[in-house]
Amino acid sequence: MLSRLVMGCSAMQRFQAGYFFRTIGFVAAVFGMAVSGQAIAQTASANIWTVPEVGALPLDAYGLQVRRGRDLITATYAHIGPEVPDPAKRFAGNNLACGNCHLQAGTKKFGLPIFGLFDLFPQYSARRGAEITIEDRINSCMVRSMNGRQLPNDGPEMQALVAYVRFLSSGMAPGQKPQGLGAGAMPELDRAADPERGKGIYANTCLACHNTDGSGIRRSLPTTDLGYMVPPLWGSDSFNDGAGMARLITIANFLHFNMPHGVDYLDPRLSVEDAWDVAAYVISQPRPQKAGLDKDFPDLLKKPIDTPYGPYADGFSEQQHKYGPYAPIRAALARIKP
Ligand code: HEC
Ligand code: HEC
Repeated sequence: MLSRLVMGCSAMQRFQAGYFFRTIGFVAAVFGMAVSGQAIAQTASANIWTVPEVGALPLDAYGLQVRRGRDLITATYAHIGPEVPDPAKRFAGNNLACGNCHLQAGTKKFGLPIFGLFDLFPQYSARRGAEITIEDRINSCMVRSMNGRQLPNDGPEMQALVAYVRFLSSGMAPGQKPQGLGAGAMPELDRAADPERGKGIYANTCLACHNTDGSGIRRSLPTTDLGYMVPPLWGSDSFNDGAGMARLITIANFLHFNMPHGVDYLDPRLSVEDAWDVAAYVISQPRPQKAGLDKDFPDLLKKPIDTPYGPYADGFSEQQHKYGPYAPIRAALARIKP
């Protein structure tokens, strides 16, 4: 576990040669020395932070609530999925687990982790055009990534999820910035990402797991209530078109640093070019549609450039926002911005 969460020495070589870890170096460097020297380890302990271990919590009310939050992440479909016995608990609209995207129960660096971020909320959301709480952020994945409805803030599920997110931030020094949030940032292409080329990459690299029609593999056929062994990438049981994963820059980086399953940011397998193109293929496929997307990002100057739906402030087409290239859009926005 530890080796996944803090970078080891071989990782340092990659870091020096690497192109995107400008910020992670400090913790890694201190830790690299800490393994070889006790004295340095003492200084380092003030700067190192690793994800706390759920299993070490006592089985008291708090420990049970945090575990419940973890279970809601790893097996969402079993507790609040569309096929659970109690209709009142059917909050998610698909059978995904939060953990299908927030990998390793939200603890994997550049696998969209949900650690270390509790104190970053409330925060300004460009999508909402207002401050949002951690509950709002979770509900935004509920209505988009999970294609469902909002969890009530005072309900046991939301409280457990928030307890888990909060626990995953415990032990951080005030003001300490978590390393490895998001999905990473590989270089961009100077051409549009190409879904046609991506189709071939899908067939060679993804299809064996995610299925010919992108529908994934259910866990225990023919029963349908146990989620997925491999989650769907498109179709009726996937995330909807308003989800973060439906944006090219997010999904392309997620794929580069996390797929095929088992890969991590220290050892990506999918080349940069292949990741952009196969991502373009995936986001070109049909998926559930969310109503009212034109109301997202009320300040259009704050709209992420890869948002695949208008309106836009910059005059570029929906096509170019969806597939790139992005440098011309950025340049135009830089001219418009006050
Ligand atoms: C289909 C993939 C997917 C699923 C499933 C999903 N999310 Fe997310 N989630 C994302 C993406 C992508 C982002 C980052 C979006 C962005 O770029 O702002 C995100 C962001 C978040 C954040 C904020 C992280 C940050 O760095 O600020 C939280 C918290 C979160 N999700 C919780 C959840 C919970 C809880 C569930 C299940 C109820 C869930 N998500 C399901 C893809 C997913
Ligand atoms: C070895 C099997 C395997 C291969 C190969 C593989 N994946 Fe995955 N993929 C998974 C599994 C399993 C998950 C869920 C991860 C989890 O729950 O820990 C996943 C999750 C994902 C997700 C996020 C969840 C979702 O439903 O959207 C995306 C996107 C994705 N894979 C795309 C791809 C693409 C594109 C390729 C080819 C470049 C690929 N995967 C190759 C097994 C695989």
